[in-house]
Amino acid sequence: MARDALEIRFARAPVQCSVVLRDGLLEQLSRAEIGNAGTSCVIITDDLVARLYGKQLKEKLCGIARTNVITFPHGERSKTLNTVARITAKMSKLGCDRKTILFALGGGVAGDLGGFVASIFKRGIQYFQVPTTLLAMVDSSIGGKTGVDAVWGKNQLGSYYQPDGVFIDPSTLDTLPSSEIINGIAEMAKSGIIADPQLFAKIDSALNNKAIIDGLKPLIFNACKIKAEVVEKDEREANLRSTLNYGHTVGHALESSSGYRLSHGKSVLLGMFCEGWISSKLGLFEAKDYERHSLLLSRIRDRFNVRTPLLDQKKVLRFAFLDKKTSEGSLRMSLPEKIGKMHIAKDGMYTAPVSRELFLESLSQLRQERN
Ligand code: NAD
Ligand code: GLY
Repeated sequence: MARDALEIRFARAPVQCSVVLRDGLLEQLSRAEIGNAGTSCVIITDDLVARLYGKQLKEKLCGIARTNVITFPHGERSKTLNTVARITAKMSKLGCDRKTILFALGGGVAGDLGGFVASIFKRGIQYFQVPTTLLAMVDSSIGGKTGVDAVWGKNQLGSYYQPDGVFIDPSTLDTLPSSEIINGIAEMAKSGIIADPQLFAKIDSALNNKAIIDGLKPLIFNACKIKAEVVEKDEREANLRSTLNYGHTVGHALESSSGYRLSHGKSVLLGMFCEGWISSKLGLFEAKDYERHSLLLSRIRDRFNVRTPLLDQKKVLRFAFLDKKTSEGSLRMSLPEKIGKMHIAKDGMYTAPVSRELFLESLSQLRQERN
């Protein structure tokens, strides 16, 4: 039975988060893992995940404290302040108080929403992340970035708020539709590109598997460790954490401008094509590594049939300027130098300025490759 655990220790003592990965963990969750039981528990999850795992988690938690489940309609379009208002009103009606413990059960949407609710309800309550998508397991459940989309752009309202723990049960992936795997593998490829050549190579091999998830499951903890190491060193994204945003400046802009029809992972995959191309054009990305990078991304794109949508380039550029790395009106991106090594500028920063022209040219490149 696969079992892994790590502790993330943040500079702001005593903030600490444990990440536990174990097959069957949802079935076995106990008071020992949760620690202080609180006055009650509340599970925040979407309607689909509620049907699959809500009852199971509720039964486990009911043995510890009174537990309620609050659901929202699945999908990115629920990641809004309206949903936050509805969930918090329901929590209040159910008698949740400052000692209620929140469990964000599901994919990245449940994690971002649930974490944000935990950060503002009664000015902050304890919470745990229980990720059930590959993307949430390898990325969004770790690091404490929470928030919602605004009408003017993605992830524009949010907070840094660390969960007490992350409970990963890879067996929940057995029900994940194969169309969702692309979202997780894109973020895993990103982790390999920014920090770990071995993970990069293993993802490449995993693509040879007929059942690709079987090749990826053993790599989940590697990806968790990369994320944990980065956020431990730079929780509030003063510098190093911006490397986790590789592919995301273009990616978020593509996702927003598509009205969220293009999923997060597909957007990040296409974003890495563009940002890798930009890095190569700027002479930062070593030619051989750029080739390997683009080959892996192409294999993923072909395996999951990711198509480049028709782009309104000016609209995409407008959304890109909402990126949180934008500084003094100039786009900034974290760009690779080699597989496993991100570029550091002379001023010690992991981000480099990118002109509007180069940004737009990278989108044209993407369109030329459109199939
Ligand atoms: P998601 O949460 O919408 O989940 C995708 C779909 O899978 C949903 O329909 C859900 O109901 C379903 N699902 C979840 N688990 C399942 C299971 N085990 N079996 C069957 N179906 C299941 O999407 P996502 O891809 O997990 O997350 C995307 C979100 O994560 C985006 O909003 C993105 O911005 C965010 N994100 C946040 C961070 C962060 O650091 N906070 C990092 C990366 C991405
Ligand atoms: N997903 C980017 C980050 O957590 O910083």
